[in-house]
Amino acid sequence: MIRFDFEHAHSFVSDDALSSAKKRAEESFKQVQTQTGPGPEWLGWRSILAQPNDALLSEIDGLATAIRQEADVFIVCGIGGSYLGAKAVIDALCPFFGGKGPEILYAGHHMSGRYLSELMEYLKTPKADGTTKKVFVNVISKSGTTTETALAFRVIRSWIHETFEQPEKHIICTTSATGGALNKIIDANGYKKFVLPDDVGGRFSVLTPVGLLPIAVAGIDIRALFYGAVSAFNETEQSPDALLTYAATRLALYEQGKMMDMIASFEPELSGMGGWMQQLYGESEGKNGKGMFPVLLGYSTDLHSVGQMVQEGQRNMIETFLVVDKPGKTVTVAAEEDDADGLNYLSGKDFHYINGKAYLGTREAHVEGGVPCLSIHFEKLDEEHIGRFIYLCEIAIAVYVYCLNENPFDQPGVEAYKKAMFRLLGKPGF
Ligand code: PA5
Repeated sequence: MIRFDFEHAHSFVSDDALSSAKKRAEESFKQVQTQTGPGPEWLGWRSILAQPNDALLSEIDGLATAIRQEADVFIVCGIGGSYLGAKAVIDALCPFFGGKGPEILYAGHHMSGRYLSELMEYLKTPKADGTTKKVFVNVISKSGTTTETALAFRVIRSWIHETFEQPEKHIICTTSATGGALNKIIDANGYKKFVLPDDVGGRFSVLTPVGLLPIAVAGIDIRALFYGAVSAFNETEQSPDALLTYAATRLALYEQGKMMDMIASFEPELSGMGGWMQQLYGESEGKNGKGMFPVLLGYSTDLHSVGQMVQEGQRNMIETFLVVDKPGKTVTVAAEEDDADGLNYLSGKDFHYINGKAYLGTREAHVEGGVPCLSIHFEKLDEEHIGRFIYLCEIAIAVYVYCLNENPFDQPGVEAYKKAMFRLLGKPGF
């Protein structure tokens, strides 16, 4: 299960403020359920869970199995909501080092020429046995026109066509049913296509083919992931109390003047999940001068960097800890006879226990320093729990943003940099 711990945040909020925020969260949740809030045409991330498409899951699984058997490298080419969800789940569940199956690499998420040049060099370098690396690319773009993604895809696609006898087998596209330059390229070349439904926005799309194909290619059980989200959906429809308390707590703290939500974890495999959450929250709530800025922190590392700021800087922040209760693997500290490093007091303890005390100690210090702390606990880190977490974050931010009287599902502000960039690049019409 996913469990919220509000104790160290509620001590910063009056009962009245919390109960009024809770009433608004309840009303917002009803608006989501009855499709009467802003952006009702973007609620497909809920309907895919209300009516799971098992045939689609099987199709994705089947293709992923075939790719896993053949590929040395699988490139996920996308930006924002088109890759962050896949990366989050893959980072959380795949081994830190080595691991079986194709190497998963990313492209199209920025325009660094050095990165792309080194990526292409790496793809072109033969394997130890002298044979060519078998490379597959999944280009993911709902609009089919995003410059960062389209440019990287142009370079990778051209090399795939030069290198492989049946290039169309190495290219899989995920985009909208119609429209966009990518659909024209698909039609002209006969590439395999997965459709992102029109009613699911990019950052809410991890449980569609956008996220599920790369996740399945990484060897992760997408059915368990998807059905974890389905369970969270069904449970919160019946008993939304914990979820609404989470949204209401965030709202009450925001309305007290808290400007930043620091998403922190002591588990490095959750940094991708924090990055996904950062985009989901930031792009959904940052509108019309409103919203908390979501900041991603990796502990203990960042305790030795911005920890000072959290402890004693401006008191305008809240902290959301992502906590894993049961470890997958750990290491136990051995006793040493001379205790030269003075660590024998930890002998017999394992790193999960020690890391857990670091979390509790940090939370205690930050609360004493005036930072309200929320915690979201994964009972363990597996497909089911991550699926649950994904849906809970999606519904929580939708409810919270409705409370701000904003549309959680659009991102008009993202266009501003594009217009200026296109003008500077001399794109026709700008
Ligand atoms: O959440 C969103 O909608 C955005 O972050 C998009 O995913 C991102 O801008 C990429 O867009 P596209 O998939 O159209 O290339």
